[in-house]
Amino acid sequence: MSDTNVRETVGEPTSVLASHEIEFFRTNGFLSLSRITTDEEVAWLGEVYERLFREQVGKEDGVQFDLGAVESGQEPVLPQLLRPSRYAPELRETVFVRNASVIAAQVLGADLDPDYFDHMIFKPALRGSVTPWHQDQAYHDPTVRHRSVNFWMPLDGATVDSGCLQFVPGSNRGSVLPHHHINNDPAVHGLEVDEPERYTEYAAACPLPPGGCSMHASYMLHYAGPNTSPRPRRAYILQFKGTSTPLDVPVDNYWITSPQRGR
Ligand code: NI
Repeated sequence: MSDTNVRETVGEPTSVLASHEIEFFRTNGFLSLSRITTDEEVAWLGEVYERLFREQVGKEDGVQFDLGAVESGQEPVLPQLLRPSRYAPELRETVFVRNASVIAAQVLGADLDPDYFDHMIFKPALRGSVTPWHQDQAYHDPTVRHRSVNFWMPLDGATVDSGCLQFVPGSNRGSVLPHHHINNDPAVHGLEVDEPERYTEYAAACPLPPGGCSMHASYMLHYAGPNTSPRPRRAYILQFKGTSTPLDVPVDNYWITSPQRGR
């Protein structure tokens, strides 16, 4: 897929969903918005983003690290930074945060937790590695049923070639599927769902312009290909949560507690 699939950002950013969009999100577990912030803010966010990675902010705290399998001395293939707004508090005062929080309240309801989680995932041009099929909940507390919505915004046009997100529509309505560490190596932080080939034929790709946004629900199976394009793919993600409910039977997340069982 070429860059011509990315629409221009035109019109006002989306600050509230129409009822048919809420319905689509509830049914399919994802939604694509052509615009959630302004071009000016995207340009400004790009500068903040570059600085945080250039200065390797958060590395000593263990919150900037590579999601891929990187040998020491190699260039990073999938660097990420957890909670960048702790290091750059100005990130909390954005149109992106304001619009996403209103939309999150629309889809999660009044029990929305105002303390959102933010996350930057950088997929470098030509060498950014694949983000395998996974559910975010495979990383999280297995004793509760989560309710959350992620807002995934690229600062560069995101295409299939550069690693836009892909989803399995409706997979959000299931539970946590068995996962394993990438390459079956517990030293690699990233997880992959078992037997991913079972899901790929159902994949729906969400190419986006800079400042556009895809939303996805808890438990959504998602994936992003390697970045084979000559452009970086810088993604900035906000996750909002509603109230979680305790599970009668916790998920057996052996891929974290005893990963050798999955081999
Ligand atoms: Ni994910």
